Amino acid sequence: MLQNKNILIGITGGIAAYKVCELIRLFKKNGANVKVTATKNALEFVTKLTLETLSQEPVYLEQFSIEEKKPEHISLCDWADVFVIAPASANTIGKIANGVCDNLLTSLACAFQKQIFIAPAMNTGMYNNFAVQKNIEILENNGIKIIEPETGFLACGTNGKGRLAEVSEIYSVVESYFEKKQFLKNKKVVVTAGGTKENIDPVRYIGNYSSGKMGTAIADAAAIAGAEVVLIKTFDIDRNYKTVDVKSAQDMFEAVKKEFVDSDVLIMVAAVADYRPETVQDLKIKKENNDSFTIKLVKNPDILSEMCKIKKTNQQVIGFCAESNNLIEYAKEKIKRKNCDYIIANDISKKETGFASNYNEVFVIDKHLNMTKIEKDTKENIAMKIMELLYGKNN
Ligand SMILES: Cc1cc2nc3c(=O)[nH]c(=O)nc-3n(C[C@H](O)[C@H](O)[C@H](O)COP(=O)(O)O)c2cc1C
Repeated sequence: MLQNKNILIGITGGIAAYKVCELIRLFKKNGANVKVTATKNALEFVTKLTLETLSQEPVYLEQFSIEEKKPEHISLCDWADVFVIAPASANTIGKIANGVCDNLLTSLACAFQKQIFIAPAMNTGMYNNFAVQKNIEILENNGIKIIEPETGFLACGTNGKGRLAEVSEIYSVVESYFEKKQFLKNKKVVVTAGGTKENIDPVRYIGNYSSGKMGTAIADAAAIAGAEVVLIKTFDIDRNYKTVDVKSAQDMFEAVKKEFVDSDVLIMVAAVADYRPETVQDLKIKKENNDSFTIKLVKNPDILSEMCKIKKTNQQVIGFCAESNNLIEYAKEKIKRKNCDYIIANDISKKETGFASNYNEVFVIDKHLNMTKIEKDTKENIAMKIMELLYGKNN
């Protein structure tokens, strides 16, 4: 279940820090990739050398070192599928619950948009303290999974609640999270993303503002859900699933036809140009020779419609509909005209949820024109909510 999953472990300054060495080993043994971030105080309890040897990665400590071209708290967020903070001290719990970001671990927790697990461990007095209890409640109410401490004999000599949950328990909570998420296991999902580029001459093209963020988020969500993913894209991005690079609508059409044959689901998120220049000039068009010129455009293939025409009963085709006005009306008309299984409609006129934004707000419309609104959220969260709504276990 954990094969190739990227697990970020956060260690704070508690006596139970040594137990997390065993957790790292367990995750690694079961195929996960592990990176560790630790607070300065955590290293009073367990050495950097031990953590680096076990994880086979550098331990991330510094907020202000930029080794992977992006600030560490952003690149690690991109990399990790889940963030497991164990042991979580009363101090760090308080900071995360209140949005304090004064070290790499707390900045990561603030920026992280996927699942965070927190395993508190502390003396019973600290655990029962009103502020700690209130902070844990805040974390739980905001989607963080708390792996409760156990009752027993504590390192400080007292007997009570506060001992770090067993390493095997932390492991199985994380494992069952991934298990539940595997609702697309054994399915092949093809996703298109980005805006196509239609050449005019060797240096110019007709394009659009699509950033490819929503399509990438959909492909990532399908991969997290266990699907075999193929992302057909018009921009540079590295992923650990199959990607196919295309430029024009026609290239994309060819790539989609090839990948669709043995797929279960096609999700067309790309902004495909409706038209392309009828002829592409071999040489750069020179302004010296032309005061004006006309480009004749011809229609591109409608990839979504074409795939809907050939889809078999066991295949689904999902279209995206980006409109700047009359969103729902156009979306409903589109699903009927194109005969796709679902249309995801989003309003690109809204600045905060438009093309290049990290946020979106969508309406999922099915064949019978039933509509579900997914409220404004990050594109990653919207993508996961769409996949859960359409293919999650409860469906
Ligand atoms: C020997 C020792 C053991 C400690 N154990 C814990 C603990 O289990 N849980 C906890 O919340 N704090 C514990 N503390 C206190 C934390 O180390 C302290 O609050 C620190 O500021 C936490 O920093 P951090 O959250 O940045 O790692 C311990 C301190 C010492 C000296």
